[in-house]
Amino acid sequence: MAVDLIRPARPGDAAAIARVHVESWRTTYPGQLPDQYLVKLSAETYARRWQSLLGAAERGRRTFVLETAADGVAGFASCGSQRTGLSGFDGEFYALYLLDQMQGLGWGRRLLGAMAQQLLDTGMQAAVVWVLRDNQARWFYERLGGQRLAEQPIHFAGARLTEVAYGWSDLVPLARLAADPPVGGDH
Ligand SMILES: CC(C)(COP(=O)(O)OP(=O)(O)OC[C@H]1O[C@@H](n2cnc3c(N)ncnc32)[C@H](O)[C@@H]1OP(=O)(O)O)[C@@H](O)C(=O)NCCC(=O)NCCS
Repeated sequence: MAVDLIRPARPGDAAAIARVHVESWRTTYPGQLPDQYLVKLSAETYARRWQSLLGAAERGRRTFVLETAADGVAGFASCGSQRTGLSGFDGEFYALYLLDQMQGLGWGRRLLGAMAQQLLDTGMQAAVVWVLRDNQARWFYERLGGQRLAEQPIHFAGARLTEVAYGWSDLVPLARLAADPPVGGDH
C-alpha cells in the first residue's frame, strides 16, 4: 500500500517541485508580495531552475520532497551551508513549502527534522532560516525552538520587505523531530 513519505529529491522531481513551489507561493504570499509578481510565477521557469539545483548540488544544497500517495509531490524542503554571514551558524534552511492541504499535519516538523539531520550528517552543527516578518510561518519556527537572531530590510519583487532570521545553535534536538510520527499523518 502506498504511503505518504519524505525522501531525498531526484533530478526527475524538478517539474513536480516547481509546481508545488509556484502553488505554495501563490497561497502563502498574497498581501506580502505584489500580486503581479505572484501571477507571473511560471512553473516552467522554476522547473528549469530546480533541474539545475538538483543536478549541481550547489553549495552542498540538499532537497527533500514529501511524496503523497494521492497527489505525488506535495511539499519540499531545501538546506545547505549558510549564505548570509550570521556568525556561529554554519547551516541554513533555504526553503520549506507544503501545499495547503498538507499543512497542519506534522509534515513541516518532519521535513525540518530531516534537514537538521542532513546538516548534521555533513558536519554542520547549527542553522538559520530567514522568513518574511509578515509570514505566519515564523510562529512555526518559534514553536520548534528557533531563536530570533536578526532582522533586515530587503527589496524583493519590487517591494520593500522585512525578513527575520531564526537560529538553532544545536541541531541534534531538531533532528530528532524527523523520527516523530506525523500528527494526523494517517488521514
Ligand atoms: C510553515 C509550514 C512549513 C509548517 O508546516 P506544517 O506541516 O503546517 O506544520 P506542523 O503541522 O509540522 O506544525 C508543527 C508545530 O508548529 C505549529 N505551527 C505550525 N504552523 C504554525 C503557525 N502558522 N502559527 C503557529 N503555530 C504553527 C503547529 O501547531 C505544531 O505545533 P504543536 O507541536 O504544538 O502541535 C507550512 O505550514 C507551510 O508550508 N506554510 C506555507 C509556506 C511557508 O510559509 N513556508 C515557510 C517559508 S520561510
